[in-house]
Amino acid sequence: MPDTITIFDTTLRDGEQSPGCSMSVDEKLEVAKALVDLGVDVIEAGFPIASPGDFHAVQKVARAYGDRTTICGLARCRPEDIERAWGALEDAENVRLHVFLATSAIHREFKLKMAKEEILRRAVEMVKLACDKMAARPDITTPDVEFSPEDAARTELDFLAEVVERTIEAGATTVNIPDTVGYATPNHFYDVIKYLKDNVPNIERAVISTHCHNDLGLAVANSLAAVDAGARQVECTINGLGERAGNAALEEIIMALRTRQDVYGVTTNINTTKLFPTSRLVSNITGMKVQRNKAIVGQNAFAHEAGIHQHGMLQERTTYEIMRPDDVGFVGTNLVLGKHSGRHAFRDRVTSLGYQLEEQTLQAVFEDFIALADKKKDVYDADIVALVENRSHHIPEDWKLTAFHVFGGTGTIPTATLELTHEDGRRIQDASTGDGPVDAVFRCLERITELTARLQEYNVHSVSGGKDALGEVSVEIEHGGRTYHGKGVSTDVIEASARAYLQALNKATAANGAGREPHTQHGV
Ligand code: KIV
Ligand code: ZN
Repeated sequence: MPDTITIFDTTLRDGEQSPGCSMSVDEKLEVAKALVDLGVDVIEAGFPIASPGDFHAVQKVARAYGDRTTICGLARCRPEDIERAWGALEDAENVRLHVFLATSAIHREFKLKMAKEEILRRAVEMVKLACDKMAARPDITTPDVEFSPEDAARTELDFLAEVVERTIEAGATTVNIPDTVGYATPNHFYDVIKYLKDNVPNIERAVISTHCHNDLGLAVANSLAAVDAGARQVECTINGLGERAGNAALEEIIMALRTRQDVYGVTTNINTTKLFPTSRLVSNITGMKVQRNKAIVGQNAFAHEAGIHQHGMLQERTTYEIMRPDDVGFVGTNLVLGKHSGRHAFRDRVTSLGYQLEEQTLQAVFEDFIALADKKKDVYDADIVALVENRSHHIPEDWKLTAFHVFGGTGTIPTATLELTHEDGRRIQDASTGDGPVDAVFRCLERITELTARLQEYNVHSVSGGKDALGEVSVEIEHGGRTYHGKGVSTDVIEASARAYLQALNKATAANGAGREPHTQHGV
């Protein structure tokens, strides 16, 4: 039997920490559900001491999904951090405490101002404290505690081995070896893990884990080298989200391990057909676009353009294809449905695309589909995915767009007239001028909602092919020091722009109302 690699997903913690990627509690719950369905073994749901929002997110994720996977909370080596992390996890079923402390000379001298002996003492004490907290619960016989020597890849090997040995002795069941600044190379990282395997006497009592950042574009390669050397847990994120250049991309690790099982000889519990939908969901929620040629989940990942490739593929698929699009749940642009397709055919298609919608949402998406099919002859899988994603995740909707009219052209003053309806029943009409029709629409939305924001990014792309394709607009706005994303789809790109901007404003309103606070004490 091949060894099974534990997949530890940190999209909700390290991924969420990257600029512009913060998620609301509801959004985190939605991503957590997708991660559970994907089959990840551990979800690092947040850093509870960072903010009350982080605490509640970890608590809710742990309560909702702790019976289906292990939910982890991060803590620095401080009693108050461990207390807070345990507070968020204590009443959930399968939980893990993850404590970390930097060990490299550069961090010891300039960040922590602590000598080696002090680092050792603090790490051991805090691992013991974490174990004691967990062991106080009658049903926990072996506390699930992970220790990370931050910046391990730049730590002296003999000191790293000592820290690892002592923290295992103190009770850590997983020792995670982070390349915090993305400095390692595959050979170097292989040697680090191999050194620990050969020089830490009690290493067999813990799982060796890897946590690689992508500053040199080597995070996935380094993680795989670590697996080769004996690591049995990989920490990663969907789409490689994370601090700076990101973390190792989960989808790439999984497909490399699977496609090259002949090399690695290991397996995972991941349902690979959920990789593409999960990637779309995370991209939608965070507003972080996936580059077209990104491995595994990019739109071009399975596109064969060159004639010679297409010819080869027609003769024998494996001439140019090492994975099937279906293996990763890839959604292409197959022609599927038209105006006369019934509700049954539509439901079947949505299900086979990997979505399980509640009856009410399915009905709403079906109505959107009928409206779209009225305007557009051919509806593709990609159009359906855009419609489903536009409706399916929980987005606050204080204001709804109920009518709009724009006027523009050369030699005229672009003008937008809008009507919005508020949840409380108010219906407000107003008009604005602008530099162009989109600008006029955005100004008018701000007048009605009484919210001013700074547009940071505006993108429009066509969801499928043809002149009548659906246009998908995504915006990123800044309001009150925070970033919000919005998306809108329509065959009319001005309407899609209005919907995208309004969605972002609605998120800002909801966050203001919920008193959503910025992360304050990360220090990771
Ligand atoms: O990159 C890092 O070192 C971390 C640790 C907290 C594991 O994210
Ligand atoms: Zn990290």
